[in-house]
Amino acid sequence: MRILGINCMNHDAAMAVVDGSEILWAAHAERYSRLKNDHYLNQAIVDEAMTYGPFDKVVYYEKPLLKKTRQFYAGQFGTSLSYTEMPQWHLDHFGIKIDEYVRHHDSHAATGYYTSPFNEATILTVDAIGEWDTISIYSAKGTNIEKKFSVKYPHSLGILYSAFTQRCGLKPAEEEYILMGMAAYGTPRYRDAIYRDFVDAPYFLKKNLHRGIGNWHPDADIMDIAASIQVVITECLASLWTQASKLGSKNLVYGGGVALNCAANSQLANLGLFDNVWIMPNPGDAGSSLGCIAAAEKRFLNWQSPYLGTNIEGEYPIDSIIKELETNKMVGVASGRAEFGPRALGNRSLLADPRGPEVKELVNKIKRRQEFRPFAPVILEEDVHEYFDLPKGIVITPYMQFTAACTAGKDFPAIIHHDGTSRVQTVSEKQNSGLYNLLKEWKKKTGCPMLLNTSLNIKGEPMVNTRQDADRWTTRYGVNVK
Ligand SMILES: [Fe+2]
Repeated sequence: MRILGINCMNHDAAMAVVDGSEILWAAHAERYSRLKNDHYLNQAIVDEAMTYGPFDKVVYYEKPLLKKTRQFYAGQFGTSLSYTEMPQWHLDHFGIKIDEYVRHHDSHAATGYYTSPFNEATILTVDAIGEWDTISIYSAKGTNIEKKFSVKYPHSLGILYSAFTQRCGLKPAEEEYILMGMAAYGTPRYRDAIYRDFVDAPYFLKKNLHRGIGNWHPDADIMDIAASIQVVITECLASLWTQASKLGSKNLVYGGGVALNCAANSQLANLGLFDNVWIMPNPGDAGSSLGCIAAAEKRFLNWQSPYLGTNIEGEYPIDSIIKELETNKMVGVASGRAEFGPRALGNRSLLADPRGPEVKELVNKIKRRQEFRPFAPVILEEDVHEYFDLPKGIVITPYMQFTAACTAGKDFPAIIHHDGTSRVQTVSEKQNSGLYNLLKEWKKKTGCPMLLNTSLNIKGEPMVNTRQDADRWTTRYGVNVK
């Protein structure tokens, strides 16, 4: 049974192909159209998907009619009554017919659970908005998933965080990760004001924040606002994790776009409520293109790694990467299959030597990012505990989902955030043998156990996907891509 899964007309369209329990391919539309967070599919991604066809079934990640009832309730009359806002209308352009629709949160839950290493778990999904559900808790045993609790729109922790993203001058539903990075520079002096004006803890909102909070506290320092909302969201999530833990399982599957908040994730893990936590590397809506297939089939997927997209042939170019790092301190890598998920994990990465005070500025200049934003380190799995204090119960962090205090921060200034933490990626030979052996070789040559790893793009641009994109990158930004 070969199945195509689709998520589109949202903030990050994606497609996935599964055969039985094998994941054959999964990719984001933006990497093909070159439009960041592209809402729509395009001919190039569809063509690549079709190389894995023909398909026995096509599954869509949410229920569009149910979504329209919510949109109607929210006053989005144009969208809710328009046929052109239906996914089948969009897919008609590519000759694709949807056979089955899965509820938005059921897709999230399945994305997490059916890729997890567990055979029983509690599943917690928290996002901004889909159909009606914004928070769901499920109990899972074997292949059976049962919903136990939900919170519905307009109450939404994701919408709350997005409203503050917009208040701080950032793009909601896209730049929440920047708001999270800003939090380390502020003081949470507006925590109480947020509760007073907006939040009925732990998860109800006092008003509908779908259209933002305007210029709330216009004279406030936005770093303080960022710090305040980060504290509030973490406290609300802590209540939810506590509630989820009462179902009795020691395994938590956590997903939805809010699970990308790695600063909150670390504090939540430190609560020690669960022995094991699984966040799949693409827990937002794009990942649901894969999960909706598992939900429809009620079956576990053989999860190996997030390297599921377009392939660039050839060996991982270890020697030429090291040569470039020694000469120019940084180098691009475009090798193997592209990452499925928002993080570059070594196959479409910009790597740099994390030592020395000038590297952060050097990389920021190329990437055109705000100076305050931290870069992440990638380190051999066996070395991580020597340099980082991972949160409780977290032994490895292969997908950059947790922050950890760096115990040797002064030696690696380029990868330390203002609060002394790093969003660490650990790597094992099984996960990515090229990147693993590169780090081994780099350590042998220099004594340095890690590299700075950031995505191979500039601000506002999708990651490089093909060899042609990589060559264009070299011409445009003057960084060699191996
Ligand atoms: Fe979602």
